[in-house]
Amino acid sequence: MATEGKFIASPGRAISGRIRVPGDKSISHRALMLGAVAEGQTLISGFLAGEDCLATMTALRGLGVIIDDRDSNRVLVQGVGLHGLRPANAPLDMGNSGTGMRLLAGLLAGQNFTTELTGDASLCQRPMERVAKPLRQMGARITTTNGCPPLRINGGSLEAIDFISPVASAQVKSAVLLAGLYADGNTQVREPGITRDHTERMLQTFGAHVSYGDQVSAVNGPARLTGCKVAVPGDLSSAAFALGAGCLATGSGLTIEGVGINPTRTGILDILRLMGADVSITERSAMGAEPVATLVARSSQLQGVVIPAALIPLAIDELPLVFAMAACADGETVVTGAEELRHKESDRIAVMAAGLRNLGIRVDESPDGAVIHGGQIQGGEVDSAGDHRIAMAFCVAAMAAAGPVTILNTANVATSFPGFITLMQSIGMQVANG
Ligand code: S3P
Repeated sequence: MATEGKFIASPGRAISGRIRVPGDKSISHRALMLGAVAEGQTLISGFLAGEDCLATMTALRGLGVIIDDRDSNRVLVQGVGLHGLRPANAPLDMGNSGTGMRLLAGLLAGQNFTTELTGDASLCQRPMERVAKPLRQMGARITTTNGCPPLRINGGSLEAIDFISPVASAQVKSAVLLAGLYADGNTQVREPGITRDHTERMLQTFGAHVSYGDQVSAVNGPARLTGCKVAVPGDLSSAAFALGAGCLATGSGLTIEGVGINPTRTGILDILRLMGADVSITERSAMGAEPVATLVARSSQLQGVVIPAALIPLAIDELPLVFAMAACADGETVVTGAEELRHKESDRIAVMAAGLRNLGIRVDESPDGAVIHGGQIQGGEVDSAGDHRIAMAFCVAAMAAAGPVTILNTANVATSFPGFITLMQSIGMQVANG
């Protein structure tokens, strides 16, 4: 876990302007991986050159794939075909990225060689049996280290399975579907909740036979993928911080263009609106298989709400921001059904609760959520525990604070949102590296 970096965020001015945010992290990872095992070239535009996706790029290069990223947001992948990956000569370091590790595990399950996957201190504490189990069921030999990375994956010929996932996780679903590309027959994943469907949409674009909907996704193998052009929308998970800041500051009017609004990701917009936020969606269009739009946020008076459980998986990465917004709202906000937050880049329930308490907000933690009692946020110091989204959520909370907030351990913001400070300053946020 990174122990560097410090932000100082101060309450301040209106948030305004017309911006774009960096490319979607989930889609950028998938475009690299599918491009790598496709036949022919894949040109990715709007690629997120953040540390997580760069770790995936380095890993794929280690497996023999030629990738040109001289123009950092336009990436050209020379596909090697489904069976063209080569053994890496060292363990692959996935950095901070759960998505990189879990999805790559799916592809590696179908290879006739052994690969070791490792990562940073945070990733090495995250659960990997959730992907190892179904991949073993398909025929791969996989060892974890007490359930966590490092992972050793000894792939080979795979069988199609009908997997009932105990967790609502797009990473688990995607790992199984990617392995399913190598198996004979129909590999199916059923989930207990709706999760992001970028893998299914992109597999279709690359020519695989995929079906999805009603919490069941399936792919037919053995598949053949054909390289193509992928335009990556702006990441709603990054845009959300700017939207949140726009709602909290007085006199704001912020427009964000070209943001992905895949319905499996838009829970944050529903939650913000339930809280009374003035957030609107305009100029709807599409980038390839993904819907995009312009989002507008204006100053809003927020109310505490009981967050409907069905919205949790649709806003899973934005819940730190929801905690921050709830701290600034009138009344209580109740989050339940969010136990998965304890297995992210940090234990997001515990770390958000501790940080908000440091700033004078009452938070009652439960195993699967919290009750956040909105009030006046005080200035002070919080530790983001090296979690990018927590660091950014506290910058937003500082918009409504009584004094400056110092946020520690912020270096990992570069995993998902390179240029965060500069972009936020450009719309009026009072935030700087400390
Ligand atoms: C992701 C899925 C989610 C999310 C993560 C990205 C993906 O994780 O939290 O940031 O790209 O598939 P889970 O699938 O573990 O919920």
